[in-house]
Amino acid sequence: MNSLNFLVVFVLGSALALSWPWTKHVINQKSPAIIEFDSASGSNWPSVSFSFSLKFTKLQKFFTHIVKSYVDSDILITFFQLPMSQQNCIEHALMENWQNMNDTLDQMMEMCPNASDAIENIYYEVIAEMVEYGQEFMNISDSIPASIQDAIQQLVTATMTLQTENLFQNQTALQELLVPALQNFLQIPQTDLQTLANEYPILAPILTGNDQQSLEILIQSAIDMIENGTTYNEGTIQNAYDQLTQYLKFFVQQILYDIDNATEDNLPSNINHALKQYIGNKIAKCFSKFANFPFLKVTIDQVNDVYEIST
Ligand SMILES: *[C@@H]1O[C@H](CO)[C@@H](O)[C@H](O)[C@H]1NC(C)=O
Ligand SMILES: *[C@@H]1O[C@H](CO)[C@@H](O)[C@H](O)[C@H]1NC(C)=O
Ligand SMILES: *[C@@H]1O[C@H](CO)[C@@H](O)[C@H](O)[C@H]1NC(C)=O
Ligand SMILES: *[C@@H]1O[C@H](CO)[C@@H](O)[C@H](O)[C@H]1NC(C)=O
Ligand SMILES: *[C@@H]1O[C@H](CO)[C@@H](O)[C@H](O)[C@H]1NC(C)=O
Ligand SMILES: *[C@@H]1O[C@H](CO)[C@@H](O)[C@H](O)[C@H]1NC(C)=O
Repeated sequence: MNSLNFLVVFVLGSALALSWPWTKHVINQKSPAIIEFDSASGSNWPSVSFSFSLKFTKLQKFFTHIVKSYVDSDILITFFQLPMSQQNCIEHALMENWQNMNDTLDQMMEMCPNASDAIENIYYEVIAEMVEYGQEFMNISDSIPASIQDAIQQLVTATMTLQTENLFQNQTALQELLVPALQNFLQIPQTDLQTLANEYPILAPILTGNDQQSLEILIQSAIDMIENGTTYNEGTIQNAYDQLTQYLKFFVQQILYDIDNATEDNLPSNINHALKQYIGNKIAKCFSKFANFPFLKVTIDQVNDVYEIST
């Protein structure tokens, strides 16, 4: 059992969390996210451009649904019953202290003495939830065959080393670290892939089905590019890429369906209202942060309830 696996699940989960609202809750949008190959520059590496818009109220509704479905209602009630000043205090204290897990509780109670009872309650409720979700993750992780766990771990280690030492432009380092990690993926025994596919049918297309070859083409082309600077023709890569994009859409839709179908906890109406307001404020704040990126164009049209981001 290995914490890196959790990291992978967490990273994938976060990436999905970002794409959820844009795939389902954008209404009447032709193409919420466009990912395209940059053939004009003559490079075989994909470049990405995108543009999406969404309805603020839909996004707010969606995240509210997620929170009400997956966060224990006792935690929400305890938190939103506090006066606004104490809510802010807790958030601030959490931001300052979440890294030194050891004495987060004491620090937070010291910083927000007027909310110390609530902090203590929430703390133990959160720990209980984490234990439960942690157990679920452990179970998922235990069901992944060792060869696949190793391949994931090696890729994460290689990527993190390249990242922290800023070596992504260094061909020697890519050859030494990334190529073996990618080759590992191509050498996972078919029986192990089949085991995982049986356990998680949603992954079957990419592990053993029609999309497996597309994934292999993309991995092999990355190896080729690092080793020799050339690879399959562009059409082959484009096809593989399109195929995987289709799979990804299917995957996200499936997860969205599960989330949509999740049962919400019943909350008192004042708590419900406070939660909705809280999430609305967070979304607005998040969008105004996007506006700080020089290469992003952010448009907020409150009258028509449309938020847009494009490159
Ligand atoms: C964590 O808490 C324990 C017991 O209070 C203490 O001995 C240890 O030094 C603390 N570790 C860190 C990293 O603060
Ligand atoms: C705690 O409550 C007291 C009394 O209501 C108030 O005077 C004080 O400013 C509060 N402290 C904080 C940190 O909010
Ligand atoms: C994890 O697996 C064990 C043994 O199969 C099972 O008893 C337990 O209920 C599972 N826990 C969760 C949270 O799925
Ligand atoms: C590239 O990486 C290799 C192997 O990690 C290292 O020996 C070399 O110094 C690096 N070159 C540069 C320019 O950083
Ligand atoms: C790189 O090119 C050499 C010589 O053409 C070839 O033998 C080798 O298989 C190629 N390697 C990859 C990873 O494509
Ligand atoms: C959706 O949720 C309902 C009620 O919880 C459940 O009976 C049903 O099986 C779920 N459907 C799917 C496809 O998961």
